[in-house]
Order: sequence, then C-alpha cells, then structure tokens
Amino acid sequence: MHVTLRQLQVLEAVARLNSYTKAAESLHLSQPGVSMQIKQLEESIGLPLFEHVGKKIHLTAAGREMFSYSQRIIQLLDEADTIIEEMKGLQSGRLAISVATTASHFATRLLAAFAKQYDGVTISLDITNRESLRRQLEYNEPDLVIMGQPPVGVDTYSEIFMENPLVMIASPEHPLAKERNIPLEHFQNEHFVVREAGSGTRGAIERFFNEHGVSFHTGIEMSSNEAIKQAVEAGLGLGIVSIHTLELELATQTLVLLDVQDFPIIRHWHLVHRTGKRLSPPAEAFRQFVHANADSILPRFSAQARFQASK
Ligand code: PGA
Repeated sequence: MHVTLRQLQVLEAVARLNSYTKAAESLHLSQPGVSMQIKQLEESIGLPLFEHVGKKIHLTAAGREMFSYSQRIIQLLDEADTIIEEMKGLQSGRLAISVATTASHFATRLLAAFAKQYDGVTISLDITNRESLRRQLEYNEPDLVIMGQPPVGVDTYSEIFMENPLVMIASPEHPLAKERNIPLEHFQNEHFVVREAGSGTRGAIERFFNEHGVSFHTGIEMSSNEAIKQAVEAGLGLGIVSIHTLELELATQTLVLLDVQDFPIIRHWHLVHRTGKRLSPPAEAFRQFVHANADSILPRFSAQARFQASK
C-alpha cells in the first residue's frame, strides 16, 4: 500500500468533520484538492472510503479502518513532535529558579549537578526572602521555587523533596555543649540570635515553641544564616538554624548541636510553582532531576541531627 501522510490527514479531517468543505477549510486546501487526495487514497488501497448518499457522506468499512489508523498515526506524530520540541528546549532553554535564603546553601550544588547533565540550559538563580518568593509566585515569574513552606494566599502546587531539620547550635565552649537531653523549658529565659521576621525558619521556630507551651525570646535579629553562625561562634548566644547551613561548621567543629528534647524541629523542603503552570522542558527536567538525585547529591544530615540529638 502506497499512501502519503497528507492523504491520511485529509481522510482524518473529512471523516472527523463529516464534510469535504469543512475539511478543506481546516487544512487550508481547496475542495477539489481534498477530493483529489481522497480519490488517490482510494485508488492506492483499492477500496472506496466513503459512500455518498444524497448530499451526505458515510465511511465504508474500509474507510472506518483507515480512519482509525490515520488517527493513531497522526497522534503518534504529534507525540514525536512534542518530544523533539522538548529536546530542543533542553538543548537551548532557560531555567529560572528562585530559592529561599536558607535553601541557597544546597540549591547551588543541585543546580551545578543539573547543569553538567543539561549543559545547553541557561540557568538563573535568585536567592531571596519568603515575601519576595510569595510575590514572584503570585506573578508566576520563576519556573520553580525552592522553599520551606508554600506561601498562604497564593494558589500553588508543591512537592516535598527533602527533610529540613532545624537544630540548636552553640559554640563548643558553651556550658550546655556537653549536656544531654536538655529540657525545652531550659531555654525560656534564653535570648536567641534569630533570623528576621518573615523568614520561614523564624516562623517555624516560633510555632514550635508555642506548640510546646514554652516562651521563646528573640535577641539579635539577622537576615543571613552566615551571620547567625558567626555570632553564635563568637559566643553572642544560641541559634536555631537549618542543618543544611552547617556542613562546614560541623566538619570543622566550630559549632556544636545541642542535645535538646524534642529537637530537631522537622520541616521539609518543597518545590513550588503556580497551580496550573505548564512547566517548560528545562523546568520539568529540573523537577525530575531533584526528585531523583537530591538524596545522592546533598549530604544526609537528618540522620546526623537525630543521632547527635539523641546521644
Ligand atoms: P528561610 O527558610 O526563609 O528562613 O531562609 C526557608 C523557608 O522556610 O522557606
């Protein structure tokens, strides 16, 4: 059987629209052009495709078979087209990621590993606070956002990809550094070096103390985790930060985790985008990459946090 794709497209359109005229319009062909294609197709398969009853047309048995195959072939071609477009997007596309301040401690590592695999994708990374992330999501600006908790009041779709344990830190010389199983109440008169109001970490800490009926006092406020760690190291007070910010300090033992009852505070990292957003091929590739690789690329801290806390 010698048939062309064009003939199958014409057959599909005529059968679906049940009209030569409408098929001609939808394919931007003349009506004699459509009739010609059908005639040639009938000649090459050796059977009529349509019966003409008055002004109406009906598919013959052979026509129904050919219509069904045409639909499948056209659908397969559409799928191939989508895949090829996605591949083109992955070779030259753009990926705009926005992350919460704390997530920047690991997001760069994820992006670096992703960039090695998809070297044609141009990546931009914005590190900003929760309020700005909320606004960006509202205006559907970034492809994907990495944050501790999806914002309230914006319609978003989110997926958890990793635990985010918050731990209490002190300088190794702090008197509590060697204590075990310290009750939470012990800290109600303590003043902590904390993140700014509006930080996800700060909100989670306040909720945690509130839920446990223990008052929480803030001391100096800082908008950067680095600054908090330095202040705690310098003996300015205790801090509570995500364990993902502590890789270097734990390795070099310039800070220690305190063994506090009910700690760590377990939060989660989310990948977030506006509900209904159609992810670009690079964004979809990054989403899948994070789910498949976050565990192997990023250090596994949660076990360490629990272990240290339960020693
Ligand atoms: P941060 O934490 O805002 O304290 O940096 C991230 C988040 O909770 O979204």
